[in-house]
Amino acid sequence: MWNILLLDCHAATMTETAKAPYGAIHDAAIAIENGRIAWLGAAKECPEVATRETRHLDGAWVTPGLIDCHTHLVFGGERVREWAMRQAGASYQQIAEAGGGILSTVRATRASSEDQLAQSAANRARTMAAHGATTIEIKSGYGLDLPNEMKILRAAAQVGPLANVHVTRTFLGAHAIPPEFRDDRQAYVSLLCDKMIPAIAQANLAEACDAFCETFAFTPQEARRILGAAKVHGLHVKLHAEQMSNQGGAELAAELGALSADHLEHLSAGGIAAMAKSGTVAVLLPCAYYFVRETTKPPVDELRRAGIPIAVATDCNPGTSPIASPLLALNMACTLFQLTPEEALAGMTRQAAKALGLQGSIGTLETGKFADLAIWNISEPAELAYWLGADLLRDRYLHGRSDGPKSHD
Ligand code: NIG
Ligand code: FE
Repeated sequence: MWNILLLDCHAATMTETAKAPYGAIHDAAIAIENGRIAWLGAAKECPEVATRETRHLDGAWVTPGLIDCHTHLVFGGERVREWAMRQAGASYQQIAEAGGGILSTVRATRASSEDQLAQSAANRARTMAAHGATTIEIKSGYGLDLPNEMKILRAAAQVGPLANVHVTRTFLGAHAIPPEFRDDRQAYVSLLCDKMIPAIAQANLAEACDAFCETFAFTPQEARRILGAAKVHGLHVKLHAEQMSNQGGAELAAELGALSADHLEHLSAGGIAAMAKSGTVAVLLPCAYYFVRETTKPPVDELRRAGIPIAVATDCNPGTSPIASPLLALNMACTLFQLTPEEALAGMTRQAAKALGLQGSIGTLETGKFADLAIWNISEPAELAYWLGADLLRDRYLHGRSDGPKSHD
């Protein structure tokens, strides 16, 4: 018995092996049972199965629910004054080195309660959901001590039910050296490896661990130690790599078997070769590139030629990407990085699922996967990357449950 049968729609399945662009099936039928896709194909081939409810979608397009695989959604305060300083000529790095940047958000986050953090992050997550997101990865990294990092990860867990999205969590204690360890960074690295990572893993507060490998953050040697400890404790690993300079972070991510290396504006040929060999996903973050007015683009052609999966995410955070719109990330991936609209959509569906290690359960429309669907009032899928600020979402399904179609009466 099927719970729901969706008819009068077109499906952009986004499957890897499909021949048609977007893996499109025109005049499709999609059956949902127990939160998963039970059948999908051309409506005229749909078998006769007893069904509780049939819903007609007026010719709308159905895509996999969007997956934002890189966000720093939980934080206190904002950094609008710092932004004004940057507009007046200060660089992101100069502000960070003067104790602003990430550390100013650390102060505001430490001063916030778990519930305050959950509520403000849930507001941002609701915007993402209104733009079609069903899964959001949330990194910690504005606590920089065990109690505050745990508070952030618990707040991140609250975001799921508050905003009706699926949340995955990544521990980013290695985001910056906290002020209390300014004169003894090795002691903080040891604290991360010996206390914080084991405690976070033990309490099941994160699925993955990330580190910021950059001149003013963590060295590749430090990141190797931290992510090595994370692997010992059963966490997936990811790395902020080559964002503002080349540190050999991509090679390190590949060596560690990281799920993804993220940013990659300053990626080298050696890094590309290493990532191609290890199957590490390249997560591109065009909104951060835009907001810091970076001028070096990630080497998209070379990534393509090497066959590296390319994911796209918002990087939503108060410093480099105060942007909560997955659709804007799609547009910027095309306008700024010259991805095709199909590559960009794959970057926020199939490839983003890979960047989270969730390709077995989400990211494409396939029988057996979760019925996480976004339903759009568009006449072809490229419109998702084309419109800016348009109200395209008609409905969304998370594990087979609909938000309820939007009425435009
Ligand atoms: O992904 N690169 C490091 N982390 C964030 C910025 C965080 C911040 O400035 O608060 C990023 O761009
Ligand atoms: Fe980031």
